[in-house]
Amino acid sequence: METVLSGIQPSGGFHIGNYLGAVQNWVRMAALPDYRCYFCIVDLHAITQNYEPSAMPNRVVELCADLLAAGLDPNRSALFVQSQVPEHTELAWILATVTPYGELSRMTQFKDKSERQPENINAGLLTYPILMAADILLYRATRVPVGMDQVQHLELAREIARRFNGRFGDTFPEPLPIHTQAPKILGLDGKQKMSKSLGNTIEVTENPEAIRKKIAGAYTDETRLRKTDPGHPESCYVCGLHNYFSPPDVTARHHEGCRTATLGCVDSKRALAESLIQYLAPMRERSLELRAHPEQIRETLAAGAETARRAARETMGLVRERLGFYR
Ligand code: TYM
Repeated sequence: METVLSGIQPSGGFHIGNYLGAVQNWVRMAALPDYRCYFCIVDLHAITQNYEPSAMPNRVVELCADLLAAGLDPNRSALFVQSQVPEHTELAWILATVTPYGELSRMTQFKDKSERQPENINAGLLTYPILMAADILLYRATRVPVGMDQVQHLELAREIARRFNGRFGDTFPEPLPIHTQAPKILGLDGKQKMSKSLGNTIEVTENPEAIRKKIAGAYTDETRLRKTDPGHPESCYVCGLHNYFSPPDVTARHHEGCRTATLGCVDSKRALAESLIQYLAPMRERSLELRAHPEQIRETLAAGAETARRAARETMGLVRERLGFYR
């Protein structure tokens, strides 16, 4: 039996990077017979960045709708909101006492975010990976399906588990990251990671016109200035996305056309946009339908939180005992 935990920030619906890099694996793992899965909408992490409180509830609903629309089965996994299981913050405090400060300040995401919001370098940005470790260790998870950008945080979670076990006795397994074939999807700029805060995403519920427009403006190979210049499909951003979203024959045609300069980037982008629209259509439709019934989403999240709280209470009982807390 493996226990799986992963999390995603409620910045509204998710984008194709989240989907290819993580959520695809969530759906797959939740369907496996011997896997106990917990998936967490991490609002406590989200508040380390500037945000509008009145928009938060809807962001959670949209994200939950997208997850269900992507095929995540709430009957085979606990899908819940982090702040509805207070043990996450309780364990985070405890784990903070075995986390080396120096490691936290070395985290690349801490440095990136501090640069991006210099007016709001709050302590939560620094301790963010401890809360992540608490999310995982609270369920004594062994597998964590994530994209490449979370690997450093996972390494720290493993170290925190090791230190806790070393100090207080064997309590937590060391969780392993699990990746898809696409653990790092670049944004439409072709340079940085696809990320909502960088404004370079395609959302899974994006409407067809927006997809066509965004793909038309996507990054293309700078060495291929004219249509008659042969391209490099293995490193071309647009060809790369064909791999994930187009049928094999369309992908092969555009890779070949790029290599031999018989098809231009504009042709390739047009075909990619149509493939994406087709690929995402069922998810988009289902999600929009679900979003129109927030009461069903509420029920799903309440049931998920109930399951999560049961497991969380059990772990915390053990943790309190290990720490020698007064009973
Ligand atoms: P978040 O919300 O930024 O992203 C959710 C998941 O999507 C992956 N991902 C990507 N994968 C490939 N290409 C991309 N461009 C891309 N962008 C995002 C992320 O790696 C992640 O798996 N701190 C986490 C959430 C979290 C968590 C946890 C994860 C909180 N607690 C415990 C695992 C375990 C985050 O901000 O992910």
